[in-house]
Amino acid sequence: MSSIKISEVRLTEEEIEAAVGVLRSGNLRQGEQCEAFEREFALKVGSRYALTCASGTASLHLAYMAFLRPGDEVLVPSFTFMATGSVVALSGGTPVFCDVDPDTLLIDLEDAERRITDRTRAISPVHLFGNPLDIAAVSDLAARHNLVVVWDAAQAHGATCRQRDIGSLDDFAAYSFYPSKNMFVGEGGMVCTNNAEYYNKMRSARSHGETGKYYHTALGLNYRMTDVEAAIGRKQLGRLDEMLVKRRLNAQILTAGLADVPGLRPQKVTDGGAHAWHQYCLLVDPEEFGANRDSLAERLKEKRIASGVHYPRGLHQQPIFEKLYGPLKLPVTEKITETILAIPVHHGLTPDDAKTIAEAIKEIRLRSHGVTHHT
Ligand SMILES: Cc1ncc(COP(=O)(O)O)c(C=O)c1O
Repeated sequence: MSSIKISEVRLTEEEIEAAVGVLRSGNLRQGEQCEAFEREFALKVGSRYALTCASGTASLHLAYMAFLRPGDEVLVPSFTFMATGSVVALSGGTPVFCDVDPDTLLIDLEDAERRITDRTRAISPVHLFGNPLDIAAVSDLAARHNLVVVWDAAQAHGATCRQRDIGSLDDFAAYSFYPSKNMFVGEGGMVCTNNAEYYNKMRSARSHGETGKYYHTALGLNYRMTDVEAAIGRKQLGRLDEMLVKRRLNAQILTAGLADVPGLRPQKVTDGGAHAWHQYCLLVDPEEFGANRDSLAERLKEKRIASGVHYPRGLHQQPIFEKLYGPLKLPVTEKITETILAIPVHHGLTPDDAKTIAEAIKEIRLRSHGVTHHT
């Protein structure tokens, strides 16, 4: 049997041709392709503005550069990728780590609200693994406490909540196009907003705060995307829906195939949400399943099925954050980090692959119980 990979990062011939076309043109820097990608992305997600940039990390950084003041606090889930928290700290703010919901694995808004102080300026909810957070609930919290919302949409291209695209919101939605993401160009990012002032600030910060030729009215960085990546991105945008259909079908097959397996719990999809299935994550109860997360991963590997641990620790447990902000206990996040396992769900899997994965997991459980009973 051939192996089943955790992600599909190959480009189509058409995408490669688009990149080669730009290489041949000699226009390697940010230019017409980036502008067209921005227009098409904004149209697709329903935002007024979209800005290409160098990475998902850069997209978050540009957002904070547009409004954050030194000493501001930003509520972030602890269970997420490093960049969600580190960019706040790098922008002069303080990330305030919040626990997450044990079922959806997304920021627990009640816990977040308890952590609000008079220095809290923003919240950065993450649509983790593609599961959209309840937009209305976050907007309500933000309105009551006058918070800016920096949506971390790095993993959620195409997700919707009550039919609303998660990229269409007022403040910021920050995307990544790193390989393995639902859309990928190599390194790249996009930040969407409906706010003209934020857009203009980010646009200037992306190019050294330049507002005229060699005329700088703010500090900035070089966070530009190149036309090579933008040309790939435009083609990828054209097949995003098709890739999402495949991911969603695979997720359905996995959920149905694993429904009666005791000891496994998939990430719960937010009510009213359409999940974008960047990752399909299971929580493994070692007692009930008969094997813990790591031995399940090991046995899948023996069957040539890849899996991944996202993430093995919460941000509050990262050495740099412990050093900066001291120890913190977030029980739900800590439990999840010990039991979570991502199995393949990507657009390159066939429905038969998805069935094979579910069958393999069932077999591993039966064997684990067999072994347990006889020892
Ligand atoms: C939740 C989240 N935020 C931010 C990022 C940063 O994106 P990039 O790797 O493109 O800088 C990632 C990428 O892995 C991510 O998963």
